[in-house]
Amino acid sequence: MPSHLLEIDDLSSAELDKVLSLSTQSSEELLLGKGAALLFEKPSNRTRNSMEMAIVQLGGHPVTIRPDEVGIGKRESTGDVAKTLSCYHALIGARVFDHKTVSELSAYSSVPVINMLSDEAHPLQALADLLTIKQEFGQLKGLKIAYIGDSNNVARSLAIGSLMAGVEFSVASPKGYEFSEASLKRIQSVGGQILQTGEPETAVEGANVIYTDVWTSMGQEKESATRLRDFNGFTVTMEMLSLADPESIFLHCLPAHPNEEVTQEVLDSSYSRIWKQAENRMHSARGAIAFLLSNEGV
Ligand code: CP
Ligand code: NVA
Repeated sequence: MPSHLLEIDDLSSAELDKVLSLSTQSSEELLLGKGAALLFEKPSNRTRNSMEMAIVQLGGHPVTIRPDEVGIGKRESTGDVAKTLSCYHALIGARVFDHKTVSELSAYSSVPVINMLSDEAHPLQALADLLTIKQEFGQLKGLKIAYIGDSNNVARSLAIGSLMAGVEFSVASPKGYEFSEASLKRIQSVGGQILQTGEPETAVEGANVIYTDVWTSMGQEKESATRLRDFNGFTVTMEMLSLADPESIFLHCLPAHPNEEVTQEVLDSSYSRIWKQAENRMHSARGAIAFLLSNEGV
């Protein structure tokens, strides 16, 4: 059983399945009288609110810490931040710029650390995505997800989680925005099929789920004009969705930039499950915390 959740493959496939089933249950006692520290180096809407509410639903008390308050690695070393927070809390969540920071927190923490988004990974998002897809289609195995856009943190965790769950994964990114070799190696290490292409039309063919995320992630704002140009042709449109399976659904981790990576029409369409997906951030966060803090194993 993993002590931390820094990337979704810290779980085995059986443990991933267990987290998804815990996500539909409640356990009001697990965090009773206990705290959970949520450290943020970047803004957040869904992650902060879903994590806080998941902790409350488990009987605990969330303490959200803004970037200027603790100053990870600035006011105090990352290791000392982890050791201090471990004195008071049963869990540490961290949203960081550099994945190394969340790894370092986990190395010094005596309580489970959850990555709430780094430049490399967004495991909590992938859990909510897989939960939403499972609820929609009844099972995951045998489905196909097409991700259109930047091969970023969200795409990487989703790709790994999909392959772990027996879902075929195709990704269409412009040249220069494909997965790094290290990420590709990590994705492929879980087995299963990933198709990488430069053509969105090829990726979406027969897909059950079409997924996209912003072209410019937090921390990349200076590249935004270049990215806007480079991603031309990668907007998810109704026309693109018509090439997918007729029963397909559209997902986006949010926040969206309407009419950049996806049209407003798609966001509002009958394909869209973005609000169910956003709600599921809370349920899957509760499942992930319950799994990490319980001694049940699989
Ligand atoms: N999807 C997601 O992580 O949203 P926030 O950045 O608002 O937390
Ligand atoms: N890829 C985006 C996801 C935000 C939830 C980012 O890192 O900013």
